[in-house]
Amino acid sequence: MGLGHVGQAVVGAGSSARGVLRGRGLELRIDQALVRDVTRRRHPVCRDIPLTNDPEIFFSREYDIVIEVIGGVEPARSFVARALERGTAVVTANKSLMAAYGPELRALAARRGTILRYEASVLAAVPFLGALGRRPLASSIDGLCGIINGTSNFILSSMEGRGESYADALRKAQALGLAEPDPANDVLGLDAAQKLIVLLQELGPSGFDPAHLEITGIEDVAIEDLEQARALGGVIKPVVSAAWDARRIEAFVGPAFLPRSHPLARIRGVVNGLCLRGRLAGDLFYSGAGAGPDVTAATILDDVVEIAEQRQAGAVARPSAPNPVVARCRPPQTAWFVRVTASIDPVDPDDVAALLRLHGIGLRRVSRARRSRGSQILHVLTGRSARPRLERALADLRSTKACRTFHARALDDRHPARVGRAAPIEIAASN
Ligand SMILES: NC(=O)c1ccc[n+]([C@@H]2O[C@H](COP(=O)([O-])OP(=O)(O)OC[C@H]3O[C@@H](n4cnc5c(N)ncnc54)[C@H](OP(=O)(O)O)[C@@H]3O)[C@@H](O)[C@H]2O)c1
Repeated sequence: MGLGHVGQAVVGAGSSARGVLRGRGLELRIDQALVRDVTRRRHPVCRDIPLTNDPEIFFSREYDIVIEVIGGVEPARSFVARALERGTAVVTANKSLMAAYGPELRALAARRGTILRYEASVLAAVPFLGALGRRPLASSIDGLCGIINGTSNFILSSMEGRGESYADALRKAQALGLAEPDPANDVLGLDAAQKLIVLLQELGPSGFDPAHLEITGIEDVAIEDLEQARALGGVIKPVVSAAWDARRIEAFVGPAFLPRSHPLARIRGVVNGLCLRGRLAGDLFYSGAGAGPDVTAATILDDVVEIAEQRQAGAVARPSAPNPVVARCRPPQTAWFVRVTASIDPVDPDDVAALLRLHGIGLRRVSRARRSRGSQILHVLTGRSARPRLERALADLRSTKACRTFHARALDDRHPARVGRAAPIEIAASN
């Protein structure tokens, strides 16, 4: 279902992998493709595939496995549900679908004794979900921290490495085909949030109500923030983070200061990285391409091969039953990276420290004040605080001084921290 960028790449990869598949006793035959527009020009490798734009014609045939690469929630949800209802195994790369309907679709697959695989929906090129799924001890995870949106990471890496403005870096990402003409999903953190929800459905403690997930975009990050983050011993990265125990999930999506020693600090460009903290396995780190039709197609086909081999071996499908919704999600308490821009009178770092102290927030480090376009810019790293407390302190600062502020979370190199127990931030460099 779907024969666009990824669908055509699946056909191409399937055709070039014929020998490998034959070696495993498998034959891949694509019986039919459901598309929107049967007249659209497609890659020659799709020449012999019967196309239809009529779901009734598509579902009038029986398939061993249906691959869904339409994208979006509807009609993908109805089509996937229809296939699972018939007991047909489904492979999808659709994070929007899995974030919105993952628990229901997994439950349906379990009820119908069939298989739903979605490895390519998160970290498309890195086969970790299926691997962890087969290893119950290694997959006992209680925290994760990752860079799982390549577009945002590309934009912030370009701003940091080449001193490009946000607007220029975004234009470059669009010119390279790395960002959509409407980049909102990526730069507002929505794509990363969907992938985090899929990860939490898979690895989290229980069902998860995403309504309280804190989501912040990267569009307010300025070049000065990246420069001063470096001076303060770190980098700003587009991060997802979650830690949980049996009852609570503490999670957020947004730009965050990471010390240089954090494993994610060196993940640059479109590359994705994911740190998992295993209860028994200790720290695990995965990294690789997060998107791209060819790598996504390879992961989809691996899901197909696993299902086919499972069936050949006569294994009974045992998809894990989805968890009931019980855990409440809230943002964690972290340190903060704050920019203060004063347009008239300079802001004294001691005054900032005193004001933060009044609100019960410590000050860890202060950058050297800089002047830019007639304004004074100061960056500080604070101690741990809940977001509302920090925001009250910054509102107080803005009401007493003529200034603007920007804030992003600041993590330590042992992040993800255990729920409710973030370690103090330690920065080696001085400024
Ligand atoms: N692109 C990547 O690098 C990447 C990476 C990881 C995951 N994914 C996921 O893979 C999925 C597909 O992405 P893509 O880039 O291949 O998208 P795409 O190029 O837009 O392809 C979508 C395909 O779905 C078909 N389609 C759309 N609406 C339809 C409808 N109502 N009924 C039947 N067919 C319909 C389209 O038909 P026509 O061709 O006739 O228009 C097209 O063939 C998405 O879930 C995406 O998130 C993509």
